[in-house]
This record gives sequence, structure tokens and C-alpha cells, in this order.
Amino acid sequence: MKQLGRRFDAYQSFLLGCKSYWSGSLYPQLKIESGDLKPEDIDASKSSSVTYQYYAFLERHLQRMKYSGRYGIAPMHEPFRDEFEEWLDQPLPKNLLSLDADCTPPAYFTEIDIHQHPGGTCGDTLAGVIYDRGSRSMWPGRSKDRGLHGRFNAVVKETCEPHNILDLGCGFGKSTQPFTIDFPKAQVTGIDISVPCLKFAAVTANEENIQNIGYRQSRAEETPFPPTSFDLVTSTMLLHEMPPKAIRATAKEAFRLLEAGGYTIHLDYLADDDPFNRFIHYGHGQRNNEPYMRPLNEMDLGSTLRECGFEDIKIMPFEEAPNALSPANDSWRFPWVVVVGRKP
Ligand SMILES: C[S@@+](CC[C@H](N)C(=O)[O-])C[C@H]1O[C@@H](n2cnc3c(N)ncnc32)[C@H](O)[C@@H]1O
Repeated sequence: MKQLGRRFDAYQSFLLGCKSYWSGSLYPQLKIESGDLKPEDIDASKSSSVTYQYYAFLERHLQRMKYSGRYGIAPMHEPFRDEFEEWLDQPLPKNLLSLDADCTPPAYFTEIDIHQHPGGTCGDTLAGVIYDRGSRSMWPGRSKDRGLHGRFNAVVKETCEPHNILDLGCGFGKSTQPFTIDFPKAQVTGIDISVPCLKFAAVTANEENIQNIGYRQSRAEETPFPPTSFDLVTSTMLLHEMPPKAIRATAKEAFRLLEAGGYTIHLDYLADDDPFNRFIHYGHGQRNNEPYMRPLNEMDLGSTLRECGFEDIKIMPFEEAPNALSPANDSWRFPWVVVVGRKP
């Protein structure tokens, strides 16, 4: 990975320190203070609570500074634009990357700067490079690790041993590549609407000489693959980026793509019905430019899968890091869940 200089490293590690304070000190304090409130008062308390105002300010602005501040990820890549573009456009082996000029990203995705990423994750040619850097830089406790996807694959392994895997919304390949390690005999295909992310995924797969992988530009709601092409259709952190209508279309498409006995398994976020947890989660969606987090939480995902024909549906809490679900852990965390359905 290209070094962007000591100023960049110092600035980003300062932000990481602030984020650790936010998640490990400010969030537990807010939770203690909210404990005295009646559930119906939690929402209204936000205007008067200084702790909450500080919490919300830091959540919004640390992320903004990470991407767009003076030493933010986006401006710090600008001097190296030509170098990155040349790297992304290098010739690749046949079938590793298939782009489709007719696949336009949906307006629900392009009209917002998702995660406060300037221009979103499919606009600029460097969006994949910037997204990759962003995913490493600012989660206290797991800034550089890719363990999350390995832990997800362990849950997948408890359910099935797939041979033909489709990873919906594969991004820059962070979710797709671990399948090639955990299921070495499987053929793995990643699809996404973002050309800059797909190029990043394909170039890094090529550099790592991964053979059983392919990337394709496509919407999850409507893919170019024939029926029954896969025995696992999966996604990580895709569903909360889609409005309910697109989620329903994606579930229907997953059913069409699966062979009988195949599984659809998704890793995403669903806050439980604790009013404080919901308040925090919905606020995160607003502050981080993720407007479909709340609609996903409010729709009945289990019923959606059932209506598409899936059986044996399960929605289970997911422990994204060691001891994350322990009662002793009082830090902020996403309300991770794994959602499973089987095609009869
Ligand atoms: C939060 S990222 C997750 C990426 C990857 N799965 C991971 O775990 O790192 C969500 C990805 O979904 C993609 N996406 C959003 N809507 C999509 C759609 N309708 N069809 C396909 N991909 C989509 C975005 O471009 C983005 O790369």
C-alpha cells in the first residue's frame, strides 16, 4: 500500500484516537445517562443533553475530517492520481473483470455521499482506492484487520459448503477474496455497481494471483446470470445501503439464482427493539449519510425472504470481533446480524 506521508499518518491517527474516545468513553457515558430516561423520552432528550450533542458532533465530523479534512483521504490521494489510475487500468487476465457500460448505478445510491465519502463510492475513478484506505483507517480495535469477513465465513461454514458463490455488493473485494481462502474449491464471483471498486478488486486479486475469482459490474436486483447458477448468494454490508424496494428485488433475484438447497446468507445491521439502541443506530444512519439503515430496520426482512420462497429463515446476532457480544463490552458497536434463508 502506498504511503501518503507522515502528516497523513499523524492526522489519521489523531482521528483514530478521537474515535476511540468517542466509542469507548463518550458512548458508555451517554448510555448511563439515558438509563434514567423513559423509553419515550430518549428521542426528546437529545436537544438538552450536552453529552449527546458532543457524541453526535464527533460522530459526524470525525468521519468528515477523515475523508475531506486538510489531510483527509480524498485530498491526500490527489497528487498521485495519474499513478493510481494507471495501476487501476492495467491489463488483466481474461474473465477476471467484466464491465457493462449499460449498467447505470441506481439514483438511490448516487444521489448521496455514502459514509460521507466525497462523491460516493462509485463516482470518482479513485473511489475504490479511497474506500479501501478509509476502511482501514478508523475503527478502533480493528483498524487494519480483515477478521470480520473470516468470522462471517465461519458462520457460513456452519450452514453449508458452497461451490459456486455470488457476492453481491462486493465493493473493492474485501468480502469476496476471503471466500477464496475459506472455500478454496469454490468459484467466487463478486458483483457491484461501482467500476472504481471493481477495478481495485480485480487488480488486487491479480496481484495476489487468485485463480478462482471473477468480478462483474451488475446491480444486485437484476443480474445477467442464468437461473440456478449458484449454491450461495451472499452479501456483507449491502442491504442497509438499499431502500426496501431494492432489497425485495434482490431477495427475489437471489432466489432465482440459487439451485435447490442453496443458501442466501447476509451480514448486515439490525438494531434490537431496545429504544436506546435504536436511537443510536438511526442517529448513526443520519449522521453518516446512510439513509436506508432505518428503513431496513423497520421492514420485516424475514417475511420478505419467506415471500420470495425461502425456508429455514434465521436472523442471528453476529460477533464481529472477539468478545464483542460480551456483557462486559460497553463500547459502541454496530448491531451486527447474520440473515440466512434456504431455497427448498
Ligand atoms: C458497504 S459496501 C460493502 C462492500 C463489501 N461487501 C465489504 O464487505 O467490504 C456496499 C457495496 O455495495 C455496493 N452496492 C450498493 N448498491 C448496490 C446494488 N444495487 N447492486 C450492487 N452493488 C451495490 C456499493 O457500491 C458498495 O461497494
